[in-house]
Amino acid sequence: MRALGTCLLLGVAAAATGCGERALVAPDRFSGDAIPHSLTGMPGDPEAGRATFVARDGGHCVLCHVVAGLDVPFQGNVGPALSDVGARLTPGQIRLRIVDASRLNPDTVMPAYYRVHGLNQVSRGLEGKPVLSSGQVEDLVAYLAALDG
Ligand code: HEC
Repeated sequence: MRALGTCLLLGVAAAATGCGERALVAPDRFSGDAIPHSLTGMPGDPEAGRATFVARDGGHCVLCHVVAGLDVPFQGNVGPALSDVGARLTPGQIRLRIVDASRLNPDTVMPAYYRVHGLNQVSRGLEGKPVLSSGQVEDLVAYLAALDG
């Protein structure tokens, strides 16, 4: 009942993802392993996406991913190299993996960047907010979709 109480308290709609998480992306926007359409209705900006990709207070994707030719001192290899990800995945497939990679692999260590987490999983001040905005997700999609090795 504690979780239900929290949901009622916050007025958070219990969505398919469960109580305490609000669906930021409507279920009918998912198609297979992709989210085919832009979250904002507009294309993103690849330059801004590159900045978010490396920023510590943004995605900090370089913590786990290498992109060849990117001028950053340290890049991790916990996740696959993304140097040619645009040749391997469609923009829609890239979008879904950034929004919520756990939909494909429940055990993934990759954070869900555009999902609202349950209250007990996030630090104070971040409750109810996704890690990235929809615009930042689109910028990342535009950046990564253009990487073809
Ligand atoms: C904590 C480590 C970690 C961080 C941080 C992280 N990822 Fe990932 N990512 C992974 C792992 C691991 C996978 C492999 C998929 C899996 O775990 O099932 C992955 C997979 C992906 C894929 C699919 C790649 C493929 O070849 O199939 C994309 C695209 C991706 N990540 C983008 C990003 C972006 C963009 C960010 C930053 C916003 C990011 N990742 C941050 C760990 C991470």
